[in-house]
Amino acid sequence: MSTRRFRSFAKINLGLEVIGKLPNGYHELKTLFATTTLHDTIDITPTRGAISIRSDHPGVPGDETNLAHRAAVAMQRLAGRRSGVALVIHKRIGVGGGLGGGSSNAATVLRALDLIWGLGLGPKGLIETAKSLGADVPYFLFGGPALGLGRGDDIRPLDLRLDQKVLLVPGPGGVSTARVFKRFGEDGGPSGAPSRIDSFLRRSLSLGTLRNDLERAATEESPALSEIARRIRRAGRGAGAVQAAMSGSGSSFFLLFHDAASRAAAGAELRDASIPVVRCSFVSRRSYVNRFEITRS
Ligand code: C5P
Repeated sequence: MSTRRFRSFAKINLGLEVIGKLPNGYHELKTLFATTTLHDTIDITPTRGAISIRSDHPGVPGDETNLAHRAAVAMQRLAGRRSGVALVIHKRIGVGGGLGGGSSNAATVLRALDLIWGLGLGPKGLIETAKSLGADVPYFLFGGPALGLGRGDDIRPLDLRLDQKVLLVPGPGGVSTARVFKRFGEDGGPSGAPSRIDSFLRRSLSLGTLRNDLERAATEESPALSEIARRIRRAGRGAGAVQAAMSGSGSSFFLLFHDAASRAAAGAELRDASIPVVRCSFVSRRSYVNRFEITRS
């Protein structure tokens, strides 16, 4: 049976504000998501019933604990089908955290099986399944600029044009999301400060003023990350970055620039300090849909 190949894009959080704690123990967020051109690819081959998964990255589990495998199981159940799939993940996003790689892979499996099996569910029909897999999975049903509310899984797509040049700094990993949220609480919890995301969307504040409320907790969890953050900010300031911020709960960061030359200068400085960087750009919601499947050969 024929194999089809799909892009599984990385996200960044342009801003992330923690508003409070929800009755279910999760934190209530307001976050501004954007999709970047950095992506994994996933090859999907229909099978008679078995679900298998493998990847070219040693840090990606090759069994049923992988979120993408769980997504395939959930789709079998949702569709009431016995047919299975063989999944092969070509990992480029990395596994250092903050770029939503695992969540994106899971959402890619949901979207691709919706397509391959001709179910016609779309984001609305897939949303509950996505929510059951993780707080970041629903965003990847939509892609492009979007607001995330609630646990970050109540998604409001936005008409926002983003044309900055992006320099991603994939993190070294080792920063657990649950620990970062716990530390955030120990540090005093939500500040109650007015939302900068709201002001940015009303055009009364610039992109560079957006904050990630989890950065302090993440850098306290990891002294190595704290040092990397300092260097990233210095390189960004020197090259005139529009914004420098952590993504998600870390450990990845990003810098945004108006032009490619400034980005190149910051990139060179970070590479010289042995900090790996990835150049990319933003993906609109339309491209997110149109560029989902890589032309079948
Ligand atoms: O949903 P996910 O499995 O990615 O979340 C990992 C952990 O991060 C949760 O178990 C929870 O401790 C914390 N979290 C939170 N509030 C959120 C998202 C995650 O407290 N909105």
